[in-house]
Amino acid sequence: MTHLGRYAEIHRGRGSVLPRLQDFVRTHGEPTAEQIKALARENALPESQVRAVLSYYADLHGRAASLRVCRGTSCELAGAAGLHDGLSADLDCRAVYCLGYCDRSPVALRGEDEVLVHCRAEDLRAAPNPAPRLPAIRCLAREPILTRRLLLGGCATLESARGAGVYSALANALRARPADIITALERAGERGRGGAAYSTAAKWRACAEAPGAKRYVIANGDEGDPGSFIDRVLMEGDPHAIIEGMILCGYAVGAREGILFIRSEYPAAVATMESAIADAREAGLLGPSILGGEFGFDVSVVTGMGSYVCGEETALLNAIEGFRGEVRLRPPYPAVEGLHGMPTVVNNVETLANVPAILALGADAYARLGTASSSGTKALCLNHGFARPGIVEVEFGITLREVIEEAGGGSSGEQLAAVLVGGPMGSVVLPDQWDVPICYGAMAERDIQLGHGGLVALPEGTDFRALLLHWATFMRDESCGKCVPCRLGSKRAHEMLAAEPGRALRSDLERLLDVIAEGSLCAFGQLVPKPMRQLIDHFGDRIFERVR
Ligand SMILES: Cc1cc2nc3c(=O)[nH]c(=O)nc-3n(C[C@H](O)[C@H](O)[C@H](O)COP(=O)(O)O)c2cc1C
Ligand code: SF4
Ligand code: FES
Repeated sequence: MTHLGRYAEIHRGRGSVLPRLQDFVRTHGEPTAEQIKALARENALPESQVRAVLSYYADLHGRAASLRVCRGTSCELAGAAGLHDGLSADLDCRAVYCLGYCDRSPVALRGEDEVLVHCRAEDLRAAPNPAPRLPAIRCLAREPILTRRLLLGGCATLESARGAGVYSALANALRARPADIITALERAGERGRGGAAYSTAAKWRACAEAPGAKRYVIANGDEGDPGSFIDRVLMEGDPHAIIEGMILCGYAVGAREGILFIRSEYPAAVATMESAIADAREAGLLGPSILGGEFGFDVSVVTGMGSYVCGEETALLNAIEGFRGEVRLRPPYPAVEGLHGMPTVVNNVETLANVPAILALGADAYARLGTASSSGTKALCLNHGFARPGIVEVEFGITLREVIEEAGGGSSGEQLAAVLVGGPMGSVVLPDQWDVPICYGAMAERDIQLGHGGLVALPEGTDFRALLLHWATFMRDESCGKCVPCRLGSKRAHEMLAAEPGRALRSDLERLLDVIAEGSLCAFGQLVPKPMRQLIDHFGDRIFERVR
């Protein structure tokens, strides 16, 4: 029996305890030992199962704080540690990793939807003044694929979205054979934008061809990488493009149900997507008979609970099924054995939003954008450390230097020592490497991870020791705990760095990071040590200067 079969066996007929725990914590705060026993009895589950889920998710620890202070990398570089420490003294607040406003760090979220950008402690005592949702948007590509409607200021309502072309690809596509859509994506050369850059057509075909009584489409809106915010902006500014992409995927693979998984740090994205889904349903664009035809498909939203690893596709499946968000062994891949053991496409939000645009433009025209190994365009996110922060859509093939110096205008302050590309699983890239073309092939040759396309500026004056400790803290906090090298290794690396300044011995730490990277089960443990290692390689003298 597969691990999934065992989960299903244990839980058959019992339902998930997770929604009840979410409700409970929201109203009463963290349950006591007696209350955990009662919850286990009511749900016919072993007490250990309830405790396992409770202890995993950050959002289930304690009562929901009225203030969430971002401690993601971009905000950390903008002084979030001091802000958080100062506020914790007299306010009910907790730390989160990235609120999706890295272009305006440091950031805090008050209540459900008031975002405070360039945040100072005194702002928290002032009257509400929520920040504009959309960052600056630019397009350097010959053809805007992803940013067409964002450049208009966003099209969250169905009327405005339809006026700007959304759902125009759908009617044509529903007249074609499902396999034709997959062939078009293959010709277009579309690759997933969530980080691994896997062929979208190959994934859809594997799902369509796998045996299963049911199939699912999951849009991954977890966007955990501090430094990336395009998925938030798409969900808030162009929600119908994501819905249309999900419907097209459902039709192509034979799924009737779609789930959009959105991180809880994005409450406005949750609200916008829920309202867009309701509008689409009312207009007959979702439901049992899409556009009056035979194909039926519907979408629901599931919110995350404060776990970075839940963005990994198999951990995400566990979270939706109500378990700890631990990574599953692969194979089987989700396309073959995914949600509830059924064939499931898991695609990033940006990948899905591209699909209608590709079909509308035509696969061959799309393939002419970009390079041979990476066709089309990519949204890059520039944090507050650039002179022109925000989102820039570029054609693959542009160099990193052009993005940093021309699109981003270089540093907003001191000269840049390096740029972090691709978040905590990405790469620290020095100026002498900036001529690399942004393209999966060329970047892989130089061992640079593009990830989801977040760029965080690292100016000369960066406290690299503090940055290293920040990543060690992030890794310790976010490890899903399934495998020993990552779970214990991240804890040990944190202890070494948090000890007396300079006492962590460089070679011990280097060896430990190498062991974690080599021995870990998933890309989290394999890749997070890499930028840490690069920081030590490039700036070790400044980090360990006090070691004798
Ligand atoms: C630790 C970890 C976190 C991840 N977080 C995300 C995420 O937040 N969003 C996302 O789309 N993909 C994330 N991924 C990649 C997903 O596992 C998966 O490859 C992706 O959703 C597939 O979509 P795509 O083919 O459209 O890229 C993560 C992977 C790992 C290992
Ligand atoms: S590497 Fe880390 S995140 Fe990945 S499975 Fe192991 S413990 Fe979990
Ligand atoms: S908003 Fe703080 S790191 Fe993204």
